[in-house]
Amino acid sequence: MSFTVSMYLDLAPKIDSFAEEVIQGLTQQPKMLPSKFLYDGRGSQLFDQICELEEYYPTRTEMSILSDNMPDILDALGHSAILIEYGSGTSTKTRLLLDNLTDADSYVPIDISREHLISASEHIQKSYPHLTVLPVCADYSQRIPLNLNPTPGSRITVFFPGSTIGNFENAEAIEFLSRLCSIVGPGGGILIGVDLVKDTDTLTAAYDDALGVTALFNQNILMHINARMAGCFDPHMFAHRALWNEAEQRMEMHLESRARQTVVLGDTVISFEEGETILTEYSHKYTLESFAALAEKAGFTVDHVWTDPDQLFSVQYLTAMAPGQAQS
Ligand code: TRP
Repeated sequence: MSFTVSMYLDLAPKIDSFAEEVIQGLTQQPKMLPSKFLYDGRGSQLFDQICELEEYYPTRTEMSILSDNMPDILDALGHSAILIEYGSGTSTKTRLLLDNLTDADSYVPIDISREHLISASEHIQKSYPHLTVLPVCADYSQRIPLNLNPTPGSRITVFFPGSTIGNFENAEAIEFLSRLCSIVGPGGGILIGVDLVKDTDTLTAAYDDALGVTALFNQNILMHINARMAGCFDPHMFAHRALWNEAEQRMEMHLESRARQTVVLGDTVISFEEGETILTEYSHKYTLESFAALAEKAGFTVDHVWTDPDQLFSVQYLTAMAPGQAQS
């Protein structure tokens, strides 16, 4: 028996904006590349490997927080008919929820990568035949017009694990959370993974592991560009750098040019000084207080916080305040 799932909404990002966004990022000062381009096929595989590394504590810590507190989490979520997941990827963490959230009748996974999305949706459909799976292919940093109507008395819950919220700049994070707030509506909520501030050694090790998998993952963005833009980046000429920015409370991932060099990308030539860097990603870390303040600016109140015994990571349930209650 095959489980085909059809796309509910296809807002496929324009493929031809790739080159434009790359050139725009590399011609600004300081240079940057959009972090979503880290995740081509190989990038997604390398990221799965990062999640298994000893030094990369977020994934396993979040999983154990979810499984250790499931009854309490279900209690907080209440009767959720519709579960929406942003950046669903392989949906491993979602299974933990769906196994327990027996009330849910619809699951809406949203992901930028169509193949990943379809295959994950079919796997989910196979495991949970009673569930209506409504995949949405979209770049979730854009507005997504979802028209979902929960049955009266039930809620819409958004699941946003992995501390992906930390990859946005603060103003963007507030804007993104505000959009989620209007999607779930008053009474709805979001279950979100939030990484916590900790000692610098633990943080830098998590983003620069001894085996060098994270370095390969970061350098892979250059191979992805080569493949899609007839580029001639030599990834070995760029060193992976992971730095803690104390003032901004974030990890910053860069690629640092090992020499003065020029790189041809189609018909554009980009020059690098020795030591010049390309920013590829921010990963903000929060205290419980700083995250509560951020959530509040987006119209949410923190209803529940679950952490691990070492307070490395947190899973939080935020509920949407009634309009008018939000701070501006
Ligand atoms: N979302 C992940 C995080 O912030 C992404 C990530 C992990 C990452 N390691 C990286 C991004 C190294 C760039 C480079 O934890």
